[in-house]
Amino acid sequence: MVRTLCSYCGVGCGLEAVPQANGTYKMRGDRAHPSSLGLVCVKGATILESLGVNRLTQPQWRQKLTDEFQMITWEQALDILVKQLAWVRQKYGGDAICFYGSGQLQTEDYYVAQKLAKGCLGTNNFDTNSRMCMSSAVAAYQASLGSDGPPCCYEDLELTDCAFLIGTNTAACHPIVFNRLRQHHKRNPQVKLIVVDPRCTATAEVADLHLAIAPGTDIDLLHGIGHLLWQSDSIDQAFIHHHTQGFTDYVQVIQHYIPERVAQRCGITIDQLQQAAQWWGESKRVLSLWSMGINQSAEGTAKARSLMDLHLLTGQIGRPGCGPFSLTGQPNAMGGRETGGLAHLLPGYRQIENPQHRGEIEHFWGLPPGSIASKSGRSMWEMITGLEQNQVHCLWIVATNPLVSMPDLTRVQAALRRSPFTVVQDAYAPTETTEYAHLLLPAAQWGEKTGTMTNSERRVTLCPQFLPPPGTARGDWEIFAEVGRRLGFTAQFNFTSAAEVFAEFVQLTQGRGCDYSGLSHERLAQLGPITWPCPLGTDDTEAVNVKRLYLDKKFATPDGKARFAAIASQGLAEPPDGDFPFVLTTGRYYGHWHTQTRTGRIAKIQKMHPEPRLEIHPQDAYKLAITTGDWVRVISRRGQVRVKATVGEQMRLGTVFLPMHWGALWGEQMAANNLTHPQSCPVSRQPELKACAVRIEPEPADGF
Ligand code: SF4
Ligand code: MOS
Repeated sequence: MVRTLCSYCGVGCGLEAVPQANGTYKMRGDRAHPSSLGLVCVKGATILESLGVNRLTQPQWRQKLTDEFQMITWEQALDILVKQLAWVRQKYGGDAICFYGSGQLQTEDYYVAQKLAKGCLGTNNFDTNSRMCMSSAVAAYQASLGSDGPPCCYEDLELTDCAFLIGTNTAACHPIVFNRLRQHHKRNPQVKLIVVDPRCTATAEVADLHLAIAPGTDIDLLHGIGHLLWQSDSIDQAFIHHHTQGFTDYVQVIQHYIPERVAQRCGITIDQLQQAAQWWGESKRVLSLWSMGINQSAEGTAKARSLMDLHLLTGQIGRPGCGPFSLTGQPNAMGGRETGGLAHLLPGYRQIENPQHRGEIEHFWGLPPGSIASKSGRSMWEMITGLEQNQVHCLWIVATNPLVSMPDLTRVQAALRRSPFTVVQDAYAPTETTEYAHLLLPAAQWGEKTGTMTNSERRVTLCPQFLPPPGTARGDWEIFAEVGRRLGFTAQFNFTSAAEVFAEFVQLTQGRGCDYSGLSHERLAQLGPITWPCPLGTDDTEAVNVKRLYLDKKFATPDGKARFAAIASQGLAEPPDGDFPFVLTTGRYYGHWHTQTRTGRIAKIQKMHPEPRLEIHPQDAYKLAITTGDWVRVISRRGQVRVKATVGEQMRLGTVFLPMHWGALWGEQMAANNLTHPQSCPVSRQPELKACAVRIEPEPADGF
């Protein structure tokens, strides 16, 4: 039996792979895993099926996108790639090379890629899909608490008296986190569950208070709650005095958020607002959870910080059962952050633009000073604009499917068609993105290579290899290391195992916020999953105990005090108007994973969610003469989608919903991101994928 981790979502449930008589494996929940206690959702239960279909097994190459792919050997593939990298670097400089990675990568993959891109190739253009997922949370933690890193753990789900869920459909997207919270809520009638979501999701359905706010009014609501807490003196003066800065500025802002105005803007009642504030004020332990509904916004960092403000105002942080807790989307987006897997980061929660941080990393990597470029690299959207302006000459996409998940897909497609050289390194083909590749590199998937992943509660789990990769597929870190050696950096990439890569990486976490220099593959195999911090010298008992951050109320800022943000709300980047009167919001279905590269061909899941549906309120549908099952056309300034409608009270008037899982492989005009726009948060550079303005037109069934 092999103990591992579900590699779908950031919950990070423990799995056991049990060998069967016929040589195959059966998966079941690992009861010994502290994050999930044996529970799994449909994705974890069917995960092995995702390894068997639609696999990319051999490198392929074509000169032009209009050519057919030719099967080639790894030797040929590496030769093409290394020559191109060296040539582009020499001719145009490091900035012309871009990597676009993914929270699906394991920590070892991420780390070796950082060394290759930022260290050896001198380009900080290594960004990932976490830019579209969690970068607002990262920026908010950094600004408010002094460092990235969710301070809570899943045990807090069972210790809270008031759970405040905002911008998260936890029941669908983080099912086992929700399951734990829901059990606690059911067993303890005094525990309050507040859900803030424009849509009445499966999560909102079981809330004691559902605040169906108008899209884009999150900060109004949060400041409105802050205003009421401040007015009624339900604030923690001592905590504010000793452990925070910026309270006066905060009050300057929130004093304007008077209940009447807030309720009106948010589209809720004053009673509802007061109820929320009262529960915040009365509860001893308020735990807030959030996800894409907060992060995917042109004011995403301000939203997440305004939520943290409420925790600072009430002293609801640094104790068991409370705190601001972002739910990570992908299985190892956390590991990505720890290894510096975003264009502005370096390993160990370091910042590119900090000269001391660059110096530490250069020294450790055995590279001359100045090897790491001093400016933050391109975000994923800046890679697209770089292609448009002929500034990007090599784009290397790894383990992600941007031709479904990026905003404004028509523009992304056009940019990719201009790309002189696109590498797609993935376990799967075809995907919507392989259609735009010149070179395809087959990657081993989870279970076919050994590596670690960190889940939302900072728990690191070892995922050992128990299956052979199909065909000639290789582990991602092995591919990066081989390219590094062929570029001449033999000393930097002489790793012979994932355990060696890990052992090197953890040294760079020493003394940092995400210190897990006390971990090794061997120790994880012996002790099981461990949360960080786990510095060198941590003994076994300490290591396996559940940990929280900031229990001593010393935050990671230079003076140890947390920072209030004092930022006024702006609202939607693209508000509805006469031509585009609806707000489209996007999200996920319970069974599917992201762009369906993994779940799209699993029969049980396909049956559960056979097609995308536009959800619309009955009154809106009536005006448009639409009933459930009718075809509709959804049109934004950028593109169109043609899907069937589902009419339902779960929607807010004037707001419609589409799932984001479908791309061009499944049919013409099914991708929600044909409609979305790339306007981004100026701090986190995260696009507002959650909301754009659309109009709806009924469509005859044979209208195509
Ligand atoms: Fe996997 Fe997430 Fe489901 Fe757990 S909740 S089984 S980690 S998809
Ligand atoms: Mo998302 S940061 O990739 O969880």
